[in-house]
Amino acid sequence: MEVLIRPSMEEVSLLGAAIVAAQVSAKPPSVLGLATGRTPLRLYAELIRRHREEQLDFSRATTFNLDEYVGLSPEHTQSYHFYMRENLFRHVNIPAERQHIPDGCAPDLRAHCLKYESAIRHAGGIDLQLLGLGANGHIGFNEPTGSLNSPTWIKILSEKTLKDNAVHFAKPEEQPRHVITMGIGTILQARYCVVLACGSNKSQAVKAMIEGPVTAMCPASALQHHPRTTVIVDEAAAARLDYVEHYRWVETQKLPWQQHR
Ligand code: F6R
Repeated sequence: MEVLIRPSMEEVSLLGAAIVAAQVSAKPPSVLGLATGRTPLRLYAELIRRHREEQLDFSRATTFNLDEYVGLSPEHTQSYHFYMRENLFRHVNIPAERQHIPDGCAPDLRAHCLKYESAIRHAGGIDLQLLGLGANGHIGFNEPTGSLNSPTWIKILSEKTLKDNAVHFAKPEEQPRHVITMGIGTILQARYCVVLACGSNKSQAVKAMIEGPVTAMCPASALQHHPRTTVIVDEAAAARLDYVEHYRWVETQKLPWQQHR
């Protein structure tokens, strides 16, 4: 894995946005895998700024989101449909018919998951998959002890994740316990993965993902098998890494074409 350490969440977000922008500029019909949550909010704001002020063009891009809650309609303010509309889609020019998010209200959820997988394949596979990291090591909504080779499927959230995300739901009974998520198998097929993690509450998961054994106890550790993953962390999230000086040194040694600008 390529590990990039930045002083603050602001710099993590700007670097993440620069990588996404470089992808879309180099290949306008890129297929982007997108994440929700608190982590990518600033990154999306920067993509919007680049779209408005620097003509970053998404008109030929296609997107697939990682996940969605089962049972929440696209109008629900906690649905990932709502999140994506508010935080990215309504501000940039990705054609609506090429924005894909799992449908948590599909009448046949299992058939919908199969269709989602084949839609990704039909689009040519994901060029760049953006990922946040759960404090328990999840990516997408692939919780500890789940398969490290699963396709898009319906999953049950762990109690830890329910607790972490409870703040977003006014009434506890409204918080879904089921989700549709791309599986670890789906994520590993993306050609390039970019993981963002910030804050001391992520430091344990960051350590396990990068330096721990590959284990279903930390689903993100499966990315150690991925041929091209960049992890961008702030100092707080990097605090428990043993090889932190090595990552900093490697970054100073990069050849021009290996550097991120
Ligand atoms: C969101 C997702 C999750 C989050 C993770 C971190 O689409 O798939 O894996 O990336 O829970 O969430 P935040 O960024 O809110 O800490």
